[in-house]
Amino acid sequence: MTKKILVTGGTGYIGSHTVVELQQAGYEVIIIDNLSNSNENVIDGIVNITGVRPIFEKIDCIDMPVLKSLFEKYSNIDGIIHFAASKAVGESVQKPLMYYRNNLDSLINLLELMPEYGVKGIVFSSSCTVYGEPDTNPIDENAPIKPATSPYGNTKQINEEIIQDFVHSGAPIKSIILRYFNPVGAHPSAEIGELPLGVPQNLVPFITQTGIGIREQLSVFGDDYDTPDGSCIRDFINVVDLAKAHVIAIERMLENKSDEKVEIFNLGTGTGLSVLELIRVFEKVSDKPLNYKIVGRREGDIEKIWAQPDKANNVLGWRATETIEDTIATAWKWQQRLCEKGVM
Ligand code: UD1
Repeated sequence: MTKKILVTGGTGYIGSHTVVELQQAGYEVIIIDNLSNSNENVIDGIVNITGVRPIFEKIDCIDMPVLKSLFEKYSNIDGIIHFAASKAVGESVQKPLMYYRNNLDSLINLLELMPEYGVKGIVFSSSCTVYGEPDTNPIDENAPIKPATSPYGNTKQINEEIIQDFVHSGAPIKSIILRYFNPVGAHPSAEIGELPLGVPQNLVPFITQTGIGIREQLSVFGDDYDTPDGSCIRDFINVVDLAKAHVIAIERMLENKSDEKVEIFNLGTGTGLSVLELIRVFEKVSDKPLNYKIVGRREGDIEKIWAQPDKANNVLGWRATETIEDTIATAWKWQQRLCEKGVM
């Protein structure tokens, strides 16, 4: 029988790419999203790629009575992939209570409802931010968790602990925690991609918006780090590769392929690239120079971090396959499509 997966935050950036991969793998998808940082039109993009319209309900996971009525309405949900969360690091420093309320209550509500409605597993969207500034790179899942540098980062750490505690209390559920490195790129069809509201905080949307002329100049935050070219180093992971890992994770949980009740995986390429190197990649794929200047460091930035993805490679049988050139080309194609459509 077709398995039913609830995707919270399914109209968001990583959520929408995951819905595509789930539908293409034959899962039935129910999306819930409060549309606080996304648009319902994203669903048309999903339909254009897959030919299937996922169920969509505009619901906020922190609203327990409404969430409960969703589980009443759609019986037999097999698993959950929980993306819905506030994710802007700077905003979380300004509005900590909003971040704790949104990100913690959403997960607690879902966990509370899972046993009652017989939902067997939850995949949780975590981040390499839990490692803070690593002592060594690449970093594997056993590396120590460092004190969070923002309320956003803290919500990821606390949510991981909430899942561990709940499962270890004997709750009849399983969980897979996925720690993403830096997701970038878009679906190769350019039907879906990243849609930052306002001025982008993240590097790649800022690069593509500068490339197309929406922004005048990219500021590179620091060239005096202890790295070969002085700029920060990240592990940029293709968003479609990342989405595919969620399909593998959900199948692993629902088909009981592991005895472990909670598993944690790093999702990255295993290769670090500097901010300046990424700019060179963009210049190559777009075939034009990018207007950028070096400015001071951004507070809270990590100097260098990249993944040791062996566990995901060997245990999940997942690996990043797309090159950074192809990945940035998809981000550029998506940006051009947005401009053609007059979105931005
Ligand atoms: C941050 C969060 C991460 C979160 C992600 C998505 C931390 C430490 N990291 O990642 O948890 O999941 O955002 O929201 O909290 N840069 C520039 N100019 C710009 C923008 C960025 O030079 O205009 C540089 C940054 O200094 C950094 C790199 O590009 O070195 C990547 O930045 P960004 O895309 O914001 O991601 P992270 O900070 O790595």
